[in-house]
Amino acid sequence: MDTRKFPDGFLWGAATAAHQVEGGNDNNDWWAWEQTPGHIKRGDQSGVACDWWRGERYRGDFDLACALHQNAHRLSVEWSRIEPREGEWNADAIAFYRRVLTALRERGMAPLVTLHHFANPLWLRARGAWETQAIVPLFERFAARVVQELGDLCDFWITFNEPMVYAYTGYVNAKWVPGKSDFALAMRVLMNVLRGHAVAYHAIHRVQPQARVGLAHNILAFKPADPESWLNRVIVRLQDYAYNRAFLLTLQDGRVRFPMGIGGRVPEAMGTQDFLGLNFYFSRRVVVDFSQPGSLFGRTLPAQPWGVPYDDELLEWFGKGDIDPASFYRTVKWLAEYGKGAPIYITENGVPDRYDELRPRYLVTYLAALQRAIAEGAPVKGYFHWTLVDNFEWAEGYTLPFGLIANDRATQTRTPKPSAALYARIARENGIASELIEKYGHAN
Ligand code: FCB
Repeated sequence: MDTRKFPDGFLWGAATAAHQVEGGNDNNDWWAWEQTPGHIKRGDQSGVACDWWRGERYRGDFDLACALHQNAHRLSVEWSRIEPREGEWNADAIAFYRRVLTALRERGMAPLVTLHHFANPLWLRARGAWETQAIVPLFERFAARVVQELGDLCDFWITFNEPMVYAYTGYVNAKWVPGKSDFALAMRVLMNVLRGHAVAYHAIHRVQPQARVGLAHNILAFKPADPESWLNRVIVRLQDYAYNRAFLLTLQDGRVRFPMGIGGRVPEAMGTQDFLGLNFYFSRRVVVDFSQPGSLFGRTLPAQPWGVPYDDELLEWFGKGDIDPASFYRTVKWLAEYGKGAPIYITENGVPDRYDELRPRYLVTYLAALQRAIAEGAPVKGYFHWTLVDNFEWAEGYTLPFGLIANDRATQTRTPKPSAALYARIARENGIASELIEKYGHAN
């Protein structure tokens, strides 16, 4: 039987983030934000989440992941646990993460550790978090400390998760902590993330010369709703440049670009990606709309349903974009060109699907698109599905089930969904059997 193979040694895993799975992260700004009604859908709070912290349920989850043939896992460490007050380091938190990483290694799973995944310690939020340059040396010190403490268990690091999403959702559309709507401030935040990433990159390499360090960059594939219209194409190019490319291009040559600034330089950012991390979910069909200066005169059309009916929650999520494996393929090809040979990891990709109706087709078509890009030369070395177990989905609370595995939160009972087995088969065979492509593979 014909199988579309992935390269030998390919990493197959899932991705998680501390605040979404650990529970009890009551010393960070997300926890504080959750306390105000209206911030999180249905009034949900992260609470015990997947109980990784108190109940140490990461062990059972890694057992499941390992049985599902996953050979890697991406997780994040929680700054507010490790440095609960400025300059104070918590030995219990370090010991916890040492147990977590050891548990992965005992199961033969390679860890990829993110240092910052959206949440900030309360003491840091009180100082403005990423709004001022004061954060830069603080993040540098935190990064160095984590690598000193955990470096014997991991040498594969992501400094910051999704700079663009962090800046836009917290500082432009005000949906996330700190709920501000101030474009100039968002751009300052982005610049400080860029500087923070750069100094952390160098600090990690000083502690651990062999480290592989990158960041997880979110790309939205913008598409003109009317490809015949030059104006529509121009608007889409502008959005693509501002959201997808400017930050990455600055990391390459240190030259600050629109919309972050014009003419500035951040030389320490040059060449600070040992690999490229890509978080990719969907594409957006954009029409010209001059009443929307904040999104560079483009407006996203509602998503086109993909095969199955969407319930209200899914519709709201898909209001953000279309399921679109062909755009994933093109994005990976572009990233390969940009990276000039640098290894690429898909650090997140997935779909919220309570009934596991969409996910099998999503998985097979997106992975087939990825395999095609690899067969044509894209140096992709691993794929981390978002996510392992249904978890706390930020402003959407517990309403968006992205997991391969369901969780009954009252009892913390895990139940793998059918797509967990499908993903396990692909990982075990290190490829996609043609019968899977025939069954699920007709892309849109
Ligand atoms: C990404 C985040 C991740 C999760 C997924 C659905 O933007 O990095 O934490 O929320 O989206």
